Amino acid sequence: MILVTAIAAAALAVVTYSPPPTLKWQQVAPGVWRAQVGKKEAVTLLSAAGSVPDKPGLAKLPKVTEAPIPFEHAGGELVENHAVASIPLSKDEKLYGLGLQMHGSDRRGGVYHLRMDHYSSGKDRLHAPTPLYISSKGYAVLFNTARPIAIYAGVGNRQGDPANPTQRDRNTDPNWDPQPASDAVEASVQAGGLEVLVFAGPTPLDAMRRYSLYCGGGAMPPKWALGFWHRVPLSFSAEQAESEARQFEQRNYPLDVLGLEPGWQSSSYPGSFDWSPVRFADPAGFMKSMTQSGVHVNLWENPYVSEKSRLFEPLHTYFGSHTVWLGAVPDLNVPAAAQIIRDHHKQVGVDLGVSGYKIDEVDGVDVWLWPDHARFPSGLPGDEMRQVYGVLWQRELDRLFHDSGKRTFGLVRGSNGGASRFPFAIYSDTYDHREYVTGITSAGLAGVMWCAEARSAANGEEWVRRMQTAVLSHIAQLNAWSDGTKPWSFAGYEEPVRKAMQFRIEILPYLYTAFAQYHFEGTPVIRAMSLIDGGGETDQYMLGDSILAAPMFAGEKSRKLRLPAGRWYDYETGEYAGANQVIEVTPALDKIPLFVREGALIPTIAPQLHAGSPASTLIVRHYGDVPGSARLYDDDGQSYDFEHGNCAWYKLTTENGSSGQKTRTSAGSDWNDAYHEIIWRHIGSKH
Ligand code: GAL
Repeated sequence: MILVTAIAAAALAVVTYSPPPTLKWQQVAPGVWRAQVGKKEAVTLLSAAGSVPDKPGLAKLPKVTEAPIPFEHAGGELVENHAVASIPLSKDEKLYGLGLQMHGSDRRGGVYHLRMDHYSSGKDRLHAPTPLYISSKGYAVLFNTARPIAIYAGVGNRQGDPANPTQRDRNTDPNWDPQPASDAVEASVQAGGLEVLVFAGPTPLDAMRRYSLYCGGGAMPPKWALGFWHRVPLSFSAEQAESEARQFEQRNYPLDVLGLEPGWQSSSYPGSFDWSPVRFADPAGFMKSMTQSGVHVNLWENPYVSEKSRLFEPLHTYFGSHTVWLGAVPDLNVPAAAQIIRDHHKQVGVDLGVSGYKIDEVDGVDVWLWPDHARFPSGLPGDEMRQVYGVLWQRELDRLFHDSGKRTFGLVRGSNGGASRFPFAIYSDTYDHREYVTGITSAGLAGVMWCAEARSAANGEEWVRRMQTAVLSHIAQLNAWSDGTKPWSFAGYEEPVRKAMQFRIEILPYLYTAFAQYHFEGTPVIRAMSLIDGGGETDQYMLGDSILAAPMFAGEKSRKLRLPAGRWYDYETGEYAGANQVIEVTPALDKIPLFVREGALIPTIAPQLHAGSPASTLIVRHYGDVPGSARLYDDDGQSYDFEHGNCAWYKLTTENGSSGQKTRTSAGSDWNDAYHEIIWRHIGSKH
């Protein structure tokens, strides 16, 4: 009798499906939708970055005719102390992004507790924990929160969801699935609100473009910053630094930026933010001599202020409750504090000709940084401050250089959403070569840039392969702060290293154009294959529109790579490499596997020591058997005049590569490019 009742009750039980209520979606820019769960937060990622959408740029992207996601199924709600958003996901959709990841590319099926951290391993404590994902269906979603966030990327099934797969019995059914497919990405923060932004495509690359432009466009570095960077050991003096720079010139290795590490300051960890009177007795004289030799100076700093620093007193009411290495932590969310920081950097650095900064330790290692419950004068909680601290520093230093009229490019160890327009590349203390290459590919999926620096190597072969990767990233840098390694440190391997560094200079006009595309059109300079054709490779990528790079690793004599659709040619020799296929290459040690698509033109210059020196001859390399065309961008390479139209876009065209035309395509300015002579070269042919 009892049993019958139970069965009857079970038969009657109706499981209702209660997804979070649909959010109110509003189009806030062409192809960009916004919705708010709960209350608007005082600080978000985009507000911390001071993002102002580039509306004219957004208006030039493809018109959006269809909703990028079924908004009627995109909901959100407040649950206990959480704000939750749920974004629908279809069965065959792949997800990419979720920060500066060092492993893999497919993010579907994972749970990510995205936190700012000095990346050590894993998938959610990252140098750039950007809560942005890109779908293979051609749209992107940003959870615009400064809070640590949990993202369930196609994980979890709500009770009663009609889209849930059929329940199976593990005892008997071989198709039982430990992770039943889910039809949503859910995200939650411990807060009273969460803003969600959806960026339409139609392609994944278009979605990324829309994201960057919504953040204000991509960074536009000065030309010199695209040359080679070298950082000197920890406590080098002015004389040692000058001598190091001279050696580059004497040995004929390109050098545009010399980076000084903690020793330029009179004390560090915590910092004085002033030149050491012992190691740099005459900062102005040192800067003058470096400038005369065509080398820019970049200064290391971490933001933690020593009690002995001149900055301590004026900043003392703007510090957080906790210290880092006993240094006080200025709250850059307070405008007066930010102003003091900018003024000091102007006086001590920019006015002397310092070209930029390396902002260290803003990502934090737990045992070094402030706790989550730290208090800051602006009221921003400690955990949120940690998520955006690197962004706040980039914002203030970017503003300082902008106000001074001189473009900068620098380094930062922690960044986040909204930072695309800041001219800073992320670097790390980790040193796994493969992870570094994955970092190059994933940076463009997180709206940040990445410096896969070389520091040391176990042998000459590894050194060459590391340096080859370094020149294929956003900043090409040797960071010798601890090892003192020089490009020529490995006897017998000097030539291949010099060749890689010269390649970096050679492609300057091509790379500069790619940065202009990033700035004006939002297109990442380096593009993961997932943005190109949905490929999942993390060891090859597109550098600009037309060069496919597939770096080599020490110990490898050959490697496989995939050539996307179209015909491809070896960059150096022009040899036909294949079309839409996986190939295996066995490059000599001095060779980086680089391939160019048919019909591409690569504008280059002859090797020179400084990317910042004017070059007047353009060497245009034409690949393949069809007429070639490419875009070329140019401006003065150092000021912000390009923002007022003082720049030019050209179209390069050729029928057969032996001669061709450069036609101006932009109007409205009488600025002309620096290239007075063009040499046309047909490099590659199938026949
Ligand atoms: C580390 C940084 C290194 C180097 C070093 C100097 O935090 O990642 O690149 O600058 O500090 O102490």
